[in-house]
Amino acid sequence: MASQEEVFKKLVAHCKEYGFVFPSSEIYDGLGAVYDYGQNGVELKNNIKKYWWDSMVLLHENVVGIDAAIFMHPTTWKASGHVDAFNDPLIDNKDSKKRYRADVLIEDHLAKFDEKINKECEKAAKRFGESFDREMFCQTNPRVLENVAKRDAIHARFVAALEANDLVELKQIIVDCEIVCPISGTKNWTDVRQFNLMFSTDMGSTADGAMKIYLRPETAQGIFVNYLNVQKTGRMKVPFGICQIGKAFRNEIVARQFIFRMREFEQMEMQFFVRPGEELKWFEHWKQFRLRWHKALGLGDEKYRFHDHDKLAHYANAATDIEFQMPFGFKEVEGIHSRTDFDLSSHEKYSGKNIKYFDPEINESYTPYVIETSIGVDRMFLSIMSSAYTEEQLEGGDSRVVLKLPAVLAPVKVCVMPLVKKDGLPEKAREIMNDLKFDYKCAYDEKDSIGKRYRRQDAVGTPFCVTVDHQTLEDNCVTIRHRDTMEQQRVAISDLHAIIGAEVNMKNLFKKIVE
Ligand code: GAP
Repeated sequence: MASQEEVFKKLVAHCKEYGFVFPSSEIYDGLGAVYDYGQNGVELKNNIKKYWWDSMVLLHENVVGIDAAIFMHPTTWKASGHVDAFNDPLIDNKDSKKRYRADVLIEDHLAKFDEKINKECEKAAKRFGESFDREMFCQTNPRVLENVAKRDAIHARFVAALEANDLVELKQIIVDCEIVCPISGTKNWTDVRQFNLMFSTDMGSTADGAMKIYLRPETAQGIFVNYLNVQKTGRMKVPFGICQIGKAFRNEIVARQFIFRMREFEQMEMQFFVRPGEELKWFEHWKQFRLRWHKALGLGDEKYRFHDHDKLAHYANAATDIEFQMPFGFKEVEGIHSRTDFDLSSHEKYSGKNIKYFDPEINESYTPYVIETSIGVDRMFLSIMSSAYTEEQLEGGDSRVVLKLPAVLAPVKVCVMPLVKKDGLPEKAREIMNDLKFDYKCAYDEKDSIGKRYRRQDAVGTPFCVTVDHQTLEDNCVTIRHRDTMEQQRVAISDLHAIIGAEVNMKNLFKKIVE
């Protein structure tokens, strides 16, 4: 069986071969951690966004959307804390000239102790066979105990250094652990420095008059600075939410794992404004709602878990991640945060404007508290693709690669195919497609054998193929083939709408997630 790493490599290759994701500006050898979505990728991405957007604004009468600009007044980022604190600790190797995140170098080093411990366990398991007791072995084996002790000691220093923001100690850990650069193999390191993750540019035409502005690192701030505009013009009453989908930019030092960590990516965020004191109730509410949203897609309930944060950011009083089981382990796809009144109060302070909300029900003005749900479109895309990608052995020695995408999200819903390219079958197939295309994204294919055409549609995850044959011209019936089961049914053309609609209508998912 292929390892998860091999499967992931195949998935990345598949994304390129079938028009889902391309490396950015590939003819110039690409740009690190920047990707373009192809003809199928953009359809899948748009469907994910529609699923999220409609689940927010259609299902909640007190949630509305906005579309704020990417450029914002620079003071926004001072108020949000990004100018001062949105940093990663970086270190350069003087020989290879490669730059690393100091914390990632140390984490990778710590992971090596776990690998060593696992190897000891595997060796012992082979030696002892069925009588092997892993827990007992780990508690008594001297080599395991030695590795655990070393790992824990470094880990303790590492956590303390991060908490104290002690860059000198981070460097010292790298020196003491004799961590080498993976490229040059040397220990010739610079000091550790803080590196701000925001991209900046100049706005204005003259050098004197130019203003340094940032590409937003999150969409959330566009919502905060507009919250009162929306509240007043929409006559919204607390509790209410504002959501937004848009691009965000972060100059990630270590960009890895394909579209998991990108420098330009897209977020779907909602800020939900509540009365102070009610935030933890709403935090729990949105945690559960968001998990139902994920699970309704049917990728497998066991693939999700909450990861509650032990160490909270200074502005948060509760935070959790929704993690998904990617080919490289459980990873964060979405964050849900109770952000208190930190952002609004800070904008009030920096702008000097009163942005308090007057609550007519209790006759009081206050700064609302905020619950945030924040999910990356690209990470969601990756989670769906990685769970959909399937290699199947078929009867007769044949095999196929099929993307078992949730039908509602599939880029193409139905492919219409005439059995042969003559005898009026193409015309009939076009007629059927021309009717279906008002409701569903359709494809038309008349090239190669039907078997090859089915494989092509399997590879892009098309849930239905409809074949038109000579009999169709007499009885107005077609063969509909289901992607996952490969079952074929003879059905009336007039029934196609209902059959396809029953599977691809988002309403079915929405019904599962409303309480
Ligand atoms: N406003 C809160 C916020 O931005 P975050 O945890 O930094 O919180 C939220 O980001 C989500 O955005 C993450 O859960 C992830 O899905 C996505 N995300 C963050 N950085 C990303 C990156 N470099 N590439 C792709 N997605 C990213």
